[in-house]
Amino acid sequence: MSGTFKAWWATEVDGKANVELCDVADGDLPADEVTVGVKYSTINYKDGLAVQGNKSKIMRSMPMAPGIDYAGVVEASDSDKFAVGDEVVLTGWGVGEAVSGGLSQRARAKADWLVKKPDGLSLQQTMAIGTAGFTAMMSVLALEDAGVKPGDGDIIVTGAAGGVGSVAVAVLANLGYSVAASTGRESEHDYLRGLGASSIVPRSELSEPGRPLGRETWAGGIDTVGSQILVNVLAATKSLGTVAVCGLAAGPDLPGTVLPFILRGVRIWGIDSVYCPAERRAQAWARLATDLPLDKLDAMTEVKAMADVPAITADILKGQVRGRTVIDVNA
Ligand SMILES: NC(=O)c1ccc[n+]([C@@H]2O[C@H](COP(=O)([O-])OP(=O)(O)OC[C@H]3O[C@@H](n4cnc5c(N)ncnc54)[C@H](OP(=O)(O)O)[C@@H]3O)[C@@H](O)[C@H]2O)c1
Repeated sequence: MSGTFKAWWATEVDGKANVELCDVADGDLPADEVTVGVKYSTINYKDGLAVQGNKSKIMRSMPMAPGIDYAGVVEASDSDKFAVGDEVVLTGWGVGEAVSGGLSQRARAKADWLVKKPDGLSLQQTMAIGTAGFTAMMSVLALEDAGVKPGDGDIIVTGAAGGVGSVAVAVLANLGYSVAASTGRESEHDYLRGLGASSIVPRSELSEPGRPLGRETWAGGIDTVGSQILVNVLAATKSLGTVAVCGLAAGPDLPGTVLPFILRGVRIWGIDSVYCPAERRAQAWARLATDLPLDKLDAMTEVKAMADVPAITADILKGQVRGRTVIDVNA
């Protein structure tokens, strides 16, 4: 194991994150139990906020590498859960936020944060999934647990051409749900139909303030955008339907009324992928390995190099990234 490695590395300058690609010393990583030779990381919305650091305070413990996900091979382990050579995956747990993250050729983690790479997925495919895909599957599990079944009616997915949305569309369609994909990009209609969407809802139909209760249209929903769009989805959700709420690409506010909840029994199911308990985590990864068609995953994924990180992180904050982007940290 060499003493230095390449990483996007954030230092605090005048109260802001300054993120640069540089050589980092092994001693700059935290003293956690398992050292991972990272092969792939990925760009999620949160990574966009972290790398374009002047826009938010995602990273709370600089110096550190951004990157909330990584997959790689164990290089050293003080834990009997993992041995040298094991292929492992990490999403969440505050990595890339409070602890040095995955946009780096090496990382160190607590053993409890790592999962063994699921059979049937390559390391690269686990990062094509990443936190975004994991969150999409947690949202699908929420709809299932709430009793929303294929055949109950259309399921709306908002921000559908983004990372969470793309995986949600592909998984729901594969499970036999009828998926209404909401997007702001006309250029992505064919892409979304290719992932399995039965219909397209232009974002503009949902973005303006509407009636507190509309026509009962959706049997359920997966919302990645929040704000007025979520309010309009709730207002058009059928009696006893459930909406899994995971994102805020349009904003963190909820400018609506309680009427969908108290007159139709509509339920919101909140999704937190970061501190999701181990049992649910294992369930979600197992279901991703069986219920996400790999040809669809490959079709929604681009693989990029470390030097591409600034451009991709800027694009994701503008809502201009389609599907998922994997970063090959050795390229
Ligand atoms: N709760 C959790 O644990 C968790 C985990 C992962 C992600 N998230 C959140 O989920 C959201 C999606 O993450 P992601 O990685 O999928 O990001 P992403 O790839 O950028 O997808 C977000 C999508 O939302 C739509 N969008 C962007 N700006 C918008 C706006 N102003 N108004 C309405 N729609 C807009 C776009 O889709 P269209 O072009 O198709 O409209 C965009 O592709 C983010 O807010 C992220 O923070 C939460």
